[in-house]
Amino acid sequence: MTILTGKARIAGITGWPVGHSRSPRLHGYWLERHGIDGAYVPLPIEPANFETAIRGLMAAGFAGVNVTIPHKLAAFALCDTVDDFGRRIGAINTLVFENGRISGRNTDVWGFLSNLRANGVDPAAGPALILGAGGASRAIAAALLELGVRVTIANRTRARADALAAELPGLRVIDWDTRDHALPDNTLLVNTTSLGMAGQPPLQIDLDRAAPGLTVNDIVYVPLETPLLAAARTRGIRRVEGLGMLLHQAVPAFHAWFGVEPVVDDAMRRFVAADLLPA
Ligand code: ATR
Repeated sequence: MTILTGKARIAGITGWPVGHSRSPRLHGYWLERHGIDGAYVPLPIEPANFETAIRGLMAAGFAGVNVTIPHKLAAFALCDTVDDFGRRIGAINTLVFENGRISGRNTDVWGFLSNLRANGVDPAAGPALILGAGGASRAIAAALLELGVRVTIANRTRARADALAAELPGLRVIDWDTRDHALPDNTLLVNTTSLGMAGQPPLQIDLDRAAPGLTVNDIVYVPLETPLLAAARTRGIRRVEGLGMLLHQAVPAFHAWFGVEPVVDDAMRRFVAADLLPA
């Protein structure tokens, strides 16, 4: 157990509910590993109390907080400044409190790109097919487009994909039912749907059509190896698991609050992954 001093830096995660979050475990691991005088705590905050709670945390000397469902929009509205990427996609996941001001950052996109790079994949290398049209898809599509990648999106509800394309110039949309046909034209496949998550049906896509050099990235991380990633493994297709995005998105936030740039390595991954195994 870490004993705090009176100068400890405190951060945490705000959500409603927040009990499922793995963030206290992963930040706690780094705090202990680096011997930091600090803590990262779960902060269940009802939506109606969000602004009061955030201003209270800032007044109480917190270094900042992560923000998860359902507070992402409310958090955006409270920020005095927002980083470029957060502003472009209208969503942030990290608040840093500095001199009575709230700065909002989007580190999810950083996490997505870093996870690919840490696995030897250049996100800018080739055309990408993204499945899904929720918040994660929107952030990932915007990031890849900014890198100059040709991005195609397929979503069960086509209208949601069309709405994204209206906001993100250059984004191509195809029908969900034609995803198998589009696969050979892409070197990166990203699943942002909930398909393959524990308790959900698996994602159906014909990996036998994969182009040589395809990388499959599933952002689902419960289970660690989704049916999509298992199918890629049996075919010898390069895969990047979703847990890495969660681990990497935490790096810039930890650095901003605690002043140390932590490393995502295998020991850390195993520590967080151990909590994801079925009980
Ligand atoms: P996020 O967590 O990224 O914000 P979300 O808004 O919860 O995502 O959306 C989940 C995604 O999974 C959506 O793209 C959803 O498709 P719809 O827009 O058609 O709802 C997709 N999804 C969920 N269940 C699905 C299913 N059974 N078949 C295909 N897509 C599905």
